[in-house]
Amino acid sequence: MTDDSQNVQNTMWGGRFAAGPDAIMEAINASIGFDKRLAAQDIAGSRAHAAMLAATGIITDSDAEAIREGLLTVLSEIETGTFQFSTALEDIHMNVEARLKEIIGEPAGRLHTARSRNDQVAVDFRMWVRDQCDAVDAALVRLLHACLAQAEAGADRVMPGFTHLQVAQPVTWGHHMLAYVEMLGRDRSRFADARIRMNESPLGAAALAGTSFPIDRQMTAQALGFDRPAANSLDAVSDRDFALEFLGAASICAMHLSRLAEELVIWSSAQFRFVTLSDRYSTGSSIMPQKKNPDAAELIRAKIGRILGATVSLFTVMKGLPLTYSKDMQEDKEQVFDAADSLMLALAAMDGMLRDLTANTAALEAAAATGFSTATDLADWLVRSLNLPFREAHHITGALVAMAEARGCDLPELPLADMQSVHGGITGAVFDVLGVHNSVASRTSYGGTAPVRVREQVARWKETLG
Ligand code: ARG
Repeated sequence: MTDDSQNVQNTMWGGRFAAGPDAIMEAINASIGFDKRLAAQDIAGSRAHAAMLAATGIITDSDAEAIREGLLTVLSEIETGTFQFSTALEDIHMNVEARLKEIIGEPAGRLHTARSRNDQVAVDFRMWVRDQCDAVDAALVRLLHACLAQAEAGADRVMPGFTHLQVAQPVTWGHHMLAYVEMLGRDRSRFADARIRMNESPLGAAALAGTSFPIDRQMTAQALGFDRPAANSLDAVSDRDFALEFLGAASICAMHLSRLAEELVIWSSAQFRFVTLSDRYSTGSSIMPQKKNPDAAELIRAKIGRILGATVSLFTVMKGLPLTYSKDMQEDKEQVFDAADSLMLALAAMDGMLRDLTANTAALEAAAATGFSTATDLADWLVRSLNLPFREAHHITGALVAMAEARGCDLPELPLADMQSVHGGITGAVFDVLGVHNSVASRTSYGGTAPVRVREQVARWKETLG
């Protein structure tokens, strides 16, 4: 903020006011400190509006041309950082228009014909959120490729699969990575879906009721890349579903990233040693020289807090607002800006971390064999080979696990004779299913962890992503 001219009448709406606003009124009212981020969208919207006003004969071609040229000058001033933003002018819309007036004079005053800041901010913000959907999608594609590279490299690598964070059954690293691929793929479709619904132009709804001027809303909608104009002017100026849907999709995506980040924090600990994070994505301790901390993963784990916070905040702002525009809605932008920035940073950090990540194959395989992880394979073998009901097989296996536990050994280390003391039908063939590699190789059901299935899914995803 550069200019804080106080107690001066607002030239945009001050006609009926005898005095300018109190400094505190100005402070609570102004949004220029953050909505300057909408400058490019605001100017694009104004250019489309001016071109339409000329095409419909509402303003002259020469005024439209002056406005067009002037807006380009304003844009370049903003881009090069020479633009003087003014708090007294409240927001980006009035800052741009006031500067346009300084540059081109009288025709600037014709730009706001058949328009209100209510439809103006709605169209600007929609375009900004729409751009973010595209940026997030590109970041998700990059991260998906990083996950797929990990999945492909570790299609055969065995690791423990967990439920309740207790070792459950052996799985493959590739399969685990593909679980995140599925999540991130759904995230993409959520943003794409939201983008389709948001792509209607509010411009031309004017303050709330439409306008008596013969505007062409199709023309501005098309010029700004919208599929169509929004069909109800009241809804057009008061709707913020597009921002809420973006935040919803962002919250779910951030939750996914948080889960993967949590796994990386656990896996990189000395107790697990499943992975080694690169120095580039770790930090040291100022007091403990030996420490290498997974700070990037921890911060990604935490970002969901502010992104979900933004979502709750905007829902709370919108809840109970009567139609149509209320100034409460000015509180929509900072939350969305912060959530979008946080998500983009988290996606980039996760991408970098995964690309640099080293999986410790030996530690993963050793851990995969702990906790009697192939007990289910043993029970399944009893069902298949001895035709036992699964419940009985489960019971026999439980007895064998108890026996192994008492001896402090794993299931494959139990002598056959001892197994036969629990069930006489058990043969040496059982040992084939007790090894972790055989265990994962046998899980060939669709969507299962077998390397052959993992490779199929990797191929499918590569084709999808192109
Ligand atoms: N700065 C305002 C916002 O972000 C722009 C719309 C103002 N409209 C109004 N009628 N005061 O919501």
